[in-house]
Amino acid sequence: MSGRAPLRVGVVGFGYWGPNIVRNLDRLADAELVVACDASETNLARFAALYPYAATTGSLDEMLADHDLDAVVVATSAPSHFEVARAALEAGKHCFVEKPLTLTSADAEELVRIAEERDLVLMVGHLMVYHSAVNYIKEVIDSGALGDVLYLYAQRLNLGKVRTEENAFWSLAPHDVSIVHYLLGEAPDTVSATGAAYLNDGVEDTVFANLHFPSGRMANIHVSWLDPHKTRKFTIVGSKKMLVFDDMQATEKVWIYDKGVAPKEALGYGEDLTLRFGDISVPYLKMSEPLALEVQHFCDCCATGDRPRSDGRGGLEVVRVLEAVDESIRAGGAPVATGLENA
Ligand SMILES: NC(=O)c1ccc[n+]([C@@H]2O[C@H](COP(=O)([O-])OP(=O)(O)OC[C@H]3O[C@@H](n4cnc5c(N)ncnc54)[C@H](O)[C@@H]3O)[C@@H](O)[C@H]2O)c1
Repeated sequence: MSGRAPLRVGVVGFGYWGPNIVRNLDRLADAELVVACDASETNLARFAALYPYAATTGSLDEMLADHDLDAVVVATSAPSHFEVARAALEAGKHCFVEKPLTLTSADAEELVRIAEERDLVLMVGHLMVYHSAVNYIKEVIDSGALGDVLYLYAQRLNLGKVRTEENAFWSLAPHDVSIVHYLLGEAPDTVSATGAAYLNDGVEDTVFANLHFPSGRMANIHVSWLDPHKTRKFTIVGSKKMLVFDDMQATEKVWIYDKGVAPKEALGYGEDLTLRFGDISVPYLKMSEPLALEVQHFCDCCATGDRPRSDGRGGLEVVRVLEAVDESIRAGGAPVATGLENA
C-alpha cells in the first residue's frame, strides 16, 4: 500500500472483459471503484449486484461530469474506444484503454496528442508486457544469455471467441506485436501477411504475418479463432540459446534450450556446421495475475506522472502494424511499410 489517496476510477464497458478489470481494480488499495457506465442495462445490473457501493449510469456525459473522478477505464468493444477515450481525456481524466487502442492510426495519434497536451496518462491494455514470464524473458534477452536474437514466432490460436467487429489479427495480435516490440526494443519497418475469412465475409479468422525489423531480425505471428487447439506459444531463437514460452502451462512456462549451431567463423577449413545439444532449463517463476499488475501500474502512473510501460505511443505503434498487416492481406501478401521509426 502506498499511503496516497486512492485514484477515483470509473469504468466504461462491463461486458466480457470489463468484469476482469473491475475485479482487479476493486481489490487495489490505491483505487476506488466509483462508477460503471454501460449501454446495456443488463450489464449494469450485473455490475450493481457485485459492487453495490459504486454507482451505475448509461450516460458517459453524466459519468464524465463528475469532477472528482480521476481516471476512466475503457473496456468497450474496439470500435468505440476512440470516441469514449477522447471524451474522457477531454474531460481531464487519465485514461486506460483496452487493446487495440483505436481502429485507425489517425485516431490513435489524436488520443496521444490530447493526452500529451493535457499531461494526462494514456495507457493501453497490452496485458502481456505485465506478464511475469515476459518480463523474465526480457531480462534473459537483455543479459545476452540467448546471444543475438535471430528470429521469433508467436502462435495465439483457439476455437473462438469469434468476433465480427474486428478480424483475428486486430483482436488477438496486439498482444504479440506488443510483446515483440517490448522484447526486441525495436519496431518492424515492413510487414507481409496473408489471411482468410472463412466464417464472416471480410473478417479474417486466421492470419499469418511476418514482421521485418531494421536489424534484420524477423518475427512471425500466427493468430486464429478457428483452430482445434488453444495455443499461446512464443519461440525465440538466439545465436547461443533458444527459448520457448508456453503460456498454456500452469507452472513451467519458460524453457531455455542450450542448443545451437557453431558459427562458421569458429570452424576450421573444410569443417561442416556443428550442431550443439546442451541442457534444458526450466526456471522457477513467481507468477502474479498480469491484470492485477497492469491495473496497479496504471494507478501508479496516474499518481506519479510516470510514463506507462504500455503508453499511448506504444499503442499507436501497434495500431500502425495492424493497419500495415491489413493492407498487406488486401495486397495478397505484398510487403507494406509500417512507417515506424526506431530511435
Ligand atoms: N486484454 C485482454 O486480454 C482482453 C481480452 C478480451 C477482450 N479485451 C478487450 O476488451 C474490450 C471489450 O471486449 P469484450 O469482449 O468485453 O466486449 P463485449 O462486447 O463483451 O463488452 C463490451 C461492453 O461495452 C458496452 N459498450 C459498448 N460500447 C459502449 C459505449 N459507447 N458506451 C457504453 N458502453 C458501451 C457494451 O454494452 C458491453 O457491455 C475490447 O477492446 C477487447 O479487445 C481484452
